[in-house]
Formats: sequence, C-alpha cells, structure tokens
Amino acid sequence: SDIYRAGISGTRPRVPVDADALEAAARKALSAEAFAYIAGGAGAERTVAANRAAFARWQVWPRPLRDVSSRDLSIDFLGVRRPTPLVLAPLGVIEMAHADADLAVARAAASLGVPYTLSNQASVPMEEVRDAAPAGSRMFQLYWSSSDELNASLLRRAEASGCEAVVVTLDTHLLGWRTRDLDLAYLPFTRAMGIAQYSSDPVFQQLVRERVRASAASAAEAVDAAPPVRLTPKAVAAGVRIARKGAALTGSPSVRENLRSPLPRAAVETFLDVFSTPALTWDDLAKARQWTSLPLILKGIVHPDDAIRALDAGADGIWISNHGGRQIDQSVPTLDVLPTIAERIAGRVPIVFDSGVRQGSDAVIALALGATAVALGRPYAYGLGVAGEAGVAEVVRNVLAELDITLGLAGLTSIAELDRHALREA
Ligand code: FNR
Repeated sequence: SDIYRAGISGTRPRVPVDADALEAAARKALSAEAFAYIAGGAGAERTVAANRAAFARWQVWPRPLRDVSSRDLSIDFLGVRRPTPLVLAPLGVIEMAHADADLAVARAAASLGVPYTLSNQASVPMEEVRDAAPAGSRMFQLYWSSSDELNASLLRRAEASGCEAVVVTLDTHLLGWRTRDLDLAYLPFTRAMGIAQYSSDPVFQQLVRERVRASAASAAEAVDAAPPVRLTPKAVAAGVRIARKGAALTGSPSVRENLRSPLPRAAVETFLDVFSTPALTWDDLAKARQWTSLPLILKGIVHPDDAIRALDAGADGIWISNHGGRQIDQSVPTLDVLPTIAERIAGRVPIVFDSGVRQGSDAVIALALGATAVALGRPYAYGLGVAGEAGVAEVVRNVLAELDITLGLAGLTSIAELDRHALREA
C-alpha cells in the first residue's frame, strides 16, 4: 500500500513497474555490450522464452471473502525466519550494469531482509561486500575451480566473512554458447572484470606467481597490463566506455581500479586455467565438506534424479535453475520440473527456484508448486543499471508488493498456506 500511496501522491517510481518496460529502460541505460551480457541467453534464446512461457500454463484462483487483512510473507530458510520468500540470485560481473555493483545490491537486499547470493564472479571482494552491508544476509556462490586449494580458500573466506551458506553452481562447468556476446565479440571476462574474488585471494595470487615463475617470465611481465586475449577494436572501445562510466560514479575503489586497468596477463591466464571444470563429478562434491561447515546448496538442478542425487550427496538445499536460459538453448524450463522435484524432495531440504521469475504473481506460482524460496536474476540487474542501489530495492519491493496482493486476492494470508490448491492448470 505504500507503493500505491506514493504513486497517488505523485511520487514517480525510479524504475518502470512493468517487467518488459524495466528491461527496455535497462536497454536504454546500458551500453550495448552490457545489456547483451545481462539479457542474453544461449543459442537462439529459446530457453529464455520457454522459462517465461512455462508460467502461462498456471493460473491463480481468485478467492474472495476470507478476511485477508493481515498477511505474512515470511518463510523458514536454512533455520532462520526470513521476512520474505525472495532471494537474490548470484550475478557475476555486474559492474557491467553499474560501478557500485555488488555493494549496491548487497545494501538494497539488506534493507529489505532479502538474502543476497554473492557470485564467485562478483565485482567486489566478499569482505568489502560484508563491510558495505554488515547486517545483511549473504550466501557465497562457488564456481568449483580446478584448484582445490583455491576452492578451500574461497570457502574459508566466505565463512569468515559471515556468509550463511555456500551455493555450488553445477551448470557452468563449460560456459554456454552466448550468441549476443559472441556477435559483439565481447565477454567481460576477457577484460578481467568480475574476478575480484580471485585477485583478492592469497591462494590465487600464489598460483599466479607460480605461473609467472614456470613460464620463466620476467617480473616485468607480471605487471604487463596488455589485454589478455586478442580483442577487436570495438570490444576494447566498449571496455573503455564502461570504464569511463565506472570512474565517474562512486563505485568501490576495487571496481574502479579493475575497470581502469585489466589484471596482469598472468592473472587472467591463471583464471582461465582454473575456471572451467568439465571433469567435475558427484564424487568431488564430498570435498566441500572438508572445506567448510556452512550449509551447502546445489544450484543448477533441473533433472529430478539429480535432485535425489543431491540429497544423497548430503546437500542442505537444492536450487532449481537453468541459469536463466544462458547455458543450453532449448533446455527444460525450470517451472515445468518444479512440481516433480518438489514431490520427490518431499520437504527434506529447502528448494530455491529461479529462471524466468519477473513479477510477484510468478513467485506465487513457484511457491505454490513447491519452492521454498524464489530467486530473482535479471530484474534486479536491470534495476541496478537504471537507478543503482535504489533501483534494485525498488524492483524487489515491486515484486514483493504484487506477491503480497496476489496472495491476498487468492484468499490466503501466509506463504505457508500456498499450495497447488491455489492454482489451476491452464
Ligand atoms: C547469471 N547467473 C549466474 N549464476 C551463478 O551461479 N553465478 C554467476 O556468476 C551468474 N552470473 C550471471 C550473470 C548474469 C548477467 C545473469 C543474467 C545470470 C544465473 C543467475 O544466478 C540465475 O540463475 C538466473 O539469472 C535466473 O534467471 P532469470 O531470473 O534471470 O530469468
């Protein structure tokens, strides 16, 4: 009702309320490369579309006359009562959207009591993110690197910096075929953006030193700031443009530094060495238990058999996701498998759900089909691009407001009451 009152009193929203209009506003605000990186999906982007289309197969039953004057959006998640059922998904390299990057997102999330999942590819070291919003709830998302020492070090830092859980992303052992980025000859990693967790890590720094030594390079090469891979002039120009934007804003010093000067070539090569892990198997996951005592959530589960496998592997939660359609074109849409997976998990561990959630009623549908919590991806990146921290907060508040209204119009007063009975299959 605050949002309605503000609207009626003439306070214009800072970001468009409608999801498509929000995306259009972000397209305008961002460079072509930044927008392509965020909005894009794999191949012909049929999974991106299918994720959305899956929601249209469900309808919410209106149920009046049930006294819904007081409504409770809270959930239990990882042993803690949370004020809302939303989570922010990990988004790497969001310095592409705004120089305040993860600092802005963490502050906005903390102000709303929404857990923030800090990406392995976040633009700011996790300790700085903690300092920016010390009271906020954070999880750390790990991309399992081929260096066990590096994985262990990152998880130690996650634990020491107050993260509540580790989210291991399983669907990116190879990077997807991202057509828009390929067309623009642009991937942020090639400018060494989004590797702040690594460059601030003592184990990674040691790996870089070893690499320099092994290649018998001179000390001078270690500070060689040449672009790490061959970039087209257009891509370099794009990077510089983004850098200028970043420098003008009040971003984290490390983001600005990163935007100004790409990392030494040896660091980028080390990153490329350790990042891709196509050899990873279920057996490897057990090692994570030695590295941390934090709860482990496995992200990127789409097949019901893998959900059970995750349980068998001792996961404390699963995160159903197809990476927002960025990995496989014509992948299985996540909402279509949610009911089966929820049935097989049968409440034994929490289920986070993402891919295609754009508005409050989408969240209602996912929660009714068995999700414990619902994660937002691109919408908050668009809010960040359009209006920084305030934009992120406004996007999340809008989703929450529609969720709350839809719940009440469905005749329910709490998330706990939300189940299949609230829905009709279209
Ligand atoms: C992502 N995603 C992602 N996932 C992850 O585990 N680690 C990461 O670093 C990233 N980075 C990333 C960047 C960008 C720009 C996007 C759009 C997505 C996937 C993300 O966590 C989430 O699964 C999807 O964004 C959910 O889909 P929607 O909400 O964007 O449709």
